[in-house]
Amino acid sequence: MFDKELFEKHLATSWLGRSFYFFEELPSTNSYAKKIKDMGSLHGAVVLTDHQTGGRGQYDRKWHTSAGENLTFSLIFEPQKAERFSLLTLACALSITEVINEMCGIPAVLKWPNDILHDGKKLSGILTETLFLGNHLERVVVGIGLNVYQTEFEGNLSDQASSLKLEAKADCPREELLANILQKIEYRYRLWNQHNAKLVKEINKVMIGFGEWKSLKVNGENLQGKYKFLGVNEAGELLALNKDLDLKTFAYEQVRVV
Ligand code: BTN
Repeated sequence: MFDKELFEKHLATSWLGRSFYFFEELPSTNSYAKKIKDMGSLHGAVVLTDHQTGGRGQYDRKWHTSAGENLTFSLIFEPQKAERFSLLTLACALSITEVINEMCGIPAVLKWPNDILHDGKKLSGILTETLFLGNHLERVVVGIGLNVYQTEFEGNLSDQASSLKLEAKADCPREELLANILQKIEYRYRLWNQHNAKLVKEINKVMIGFGEWKSLKVNGENLQGKYKFLGVNEAGELLALNKDLDLKTFAYEQVRVV
């Protein structure tokens, strides 16, 4: 069982995770984080469950995770402006790669748009959702699934997914992992909020295929020819050069790098 007290002992943030909602079982932390009501601000609140029964992934896929073994949690942010959510997602992903490198001793990289891989296998995925009241942005929910202790994956997932336990040199307890991840995200949230150019550079440094000629899929269709993948810009868009060296930008959600 996730040890909330141990987690709180490790937590060194000033606002992120200070309000912590823990559930032994929940259908989806993202769904809960979207519907939770509070009289005050929920900025920085974290919802975590030890057993997620109806986890949701990108492109309407399901996110399966075995009970009591992984990290499944959602962060709630209340930014002032409804913009650059993709960059915020990438800032969170970058923070996770860094903690995996530092705590678990293995290199982790980002795969566009927001997967975290080690040695070609997915360790973590992120689903970011927004909640609007009319035109007003109420909150951004960043949902994170990180495979920690799971050692078996269903069907052909075993070729594509892995966990820290299977890959890492060191034991990576979930409570300490989460505390470290939140600390990095709190720092990166500040960079994101300040439009600090350093953030984009840091993200692009750990992005698979940066600077390489790749095929792009836009809205499910392959574009002709190869594009030089130039990572993300400060608006959170994907940048790419075509063979004629025209610089193209693509909205985050519409493009896949293959
Ligand atoms: C992906 O498809 O790679 C994204 C997976 C995101 C899963 C996390 S687990 C916690 C949060 N709650 C959900 O229902 N989904 C996200």
